[in-house]
Amino acid sequence: MINCRKEVKALKAYVPGKPIEDVKREYNLEKVIKLASNENPYGCSEKAKNAIIKTLEAPSIYPDGNCTSLRNEISTKMNILPNQLIFGAGSDEIISMIARTFISPSDEAITCTPSFPQYKASVTAIGGKIIEVPLTNHTYDLNGILEKVTERTKIIFISNPNNPTGTIITQKEQLDFIKKIPNNILIVLDEAYYEYVYDDNYPESLPLLEEYSNLIILRTFSKMYGLASLRIGYGISNPEIIDYLNRVRGPFNVTSQAQAGALASIQDNDFVTNTFKLNKSVKEYTYKKCDELGFDYIKTHGNFIMIDFRKPSLELFVELQKKGIIVRPGFYFGMDTYQRVTLGSQEEMEIFFEIIENLL
Ligand SMILES: Cc1ncc(COP(=O)(O)O)c(C=O)c1O
Repeated sequence: MINCRKEVKALKAYVPGKPIEDVKREYNLEKVIKLASNENPYGCSEKAKNAIIKTLEAPSIYPDGNCTSLRNEISTKMNILPNQLIFGAGSDEIISMIARTFISPSDEAITCTPSFPQYKASVTAIGGKIIEVPLTNHTYDLNGILEKVTERTKIIFISNPNNPTGTIITQKEQLDFIKKIPNNILIVLDEAYYEYVYDDNYPESLPLLEEYSNLIILRTFSKMYGLASLRIGYGISNPEIIDYLNRVRGPFNVTSQAQAGALASIQDNDFVTNTFKLNKSVKEYTYKKCDELGFDYIKTHGNFIMIDFRKPSLELFVELQKKGIIVRPGFYFGMDTYQRVTLGSQEEMEIFFEIIENLL
């Protein structure tokens, strides 16, 4: 019998929500609303769609392994060098590259919990140890992380805003923290929901790269840009770190479709402005409905919200699914009376609350 590595044996595969088509079939439903994976309910830019379709004329050709056009566009837009960028099949892949590049067996990485599960999965899969510090007030506990730093610490992962709670750490908190961390520890600033945040205290991390050589910022095209199925995200750091990461990266890891879609997306400001506005207004509607119905919730800076329905989350999850709503149960985050609900369109959220009112 073939045996896998012991680190892999100890892992659990990620359990995604059921696909929409499966839920339709299982419960004999015509319409299913997925509010489970923080996707963009408004789809993606039409310009991106057209650019993607164009690439389908030549599927026999490997993609540009360097993502040249996209790299040049982002470097110009952000005023950084092209070799400060790395692209991945989603920021998921970059998180995995970071762990494979910097973690040796028994090295440690620190993050908070509950937070994005891929930090732990990527580090433990290669034999590293993940140290998880509980959130305080649903927010990253930077002092708690600081206390756990040892000579074995190699990486610190910070999700800002944090998935699943939607909270942020501020510019000042982030900077104070970075100043205290030795520069041989890589700090990963995962800003997957960056484009949604309008709080003045939210960090602008990019300028910090000039002064601190141990930072990498992660961004993605899966959320605001609505390209989750294409799998494309990017990391911004100094050229030395990017060079190391490139050594473990697969040669053609980002498809031509993803590159073309991403390039057209970042050139389409109208789509971003529109999604931003709609997300904000649906968020306010959601707060209002929760207040009216008496459900506690965590104020969010992303396109998702944790709502406390005061009911075991797997039970309510199944009841919602039967009615055609897919959410992410708080059970998976150790917050068992909550559901993480992606902020859908206004119409989707009205249906969601109507069903909730009937169920509870
Ligand atoms: C905090 C955070 N980081 C990274 C990701 C990964 O995004 P992707 O791999 O689609 O770019 C997600 C996705 O939900 C996320 O919530």
